[in-house]
Amino acid sequence: MHKDVGEILFNPADIQTRIDELGADITAAYKDKNPILIAVLKGSFMFMADLTRALDFPCQIEFLGVSSYGNQTSSTGAVKITRDLGCDIEGRHVIVVEDILDSGLTLNYLTGYLQGHKPASIEICTLLDKPERRKADVFPKYKGFTIPDAFVVGYGLDFAERYRNLPYIGILKPEVYS
Ligand code: PRP
Repeated sequence: MHKDVGEILFNPADIQTRIDELGADITAAYKDKNPILIAVLKGSFMFMADLTRALDFPCQIEFLGVSSYGNQTSSTGAVKITRDLGCDIEGRHVIVVEDILDSGLTLNYLTGYLQGHKPASIEICTLLDKPERRKADVFPKYKGFTIPDAFVVGYGLDFAERYRNLPYIGILKPEVYS
């Protein structure tokens, strides 16, 4: 375990098992819909790679760059698109893939932004949900794990651009960011 991590919440096997279940659920619902999966960078890059390999149907994969936190540990509420969509989503079924749903400000903004492009439908698939800190109403159809209000890193999630490459999800020791 990394010295800055105090506790492992989900090890690689836990994560893979849950992703296989999510993949089966999404396959059942979308196998005939030719959906577009849109990963919200950067945190979701690892989840997107594993989730798409758990899907048993053809799908389009796109990326949207969004930044809301900077190097802080809680949301500023300011959402900035750093990389726009490279495709037309009008009339398409969209699944937004996120690593974590926290205050909900990012996904609230993003779903509004994507609705403006007139997709046939939009649903959210988030690996982690931290409901205690919600500030905006966001209701993910697919959710990997519900977590307590702790600062988590690994499996794509960072603090100040570090720890994204850890293969597990763990709680960062408070002394690292305080
Ligand atoms: C994280 C995460 C979500 C957002 C969730 O992104 O990937 O996009 O915060 O928080 P919220 O529900 O409070 O809005 P971040 O801005 O840290 O960028 P990153 O994905 O590049 O790490």
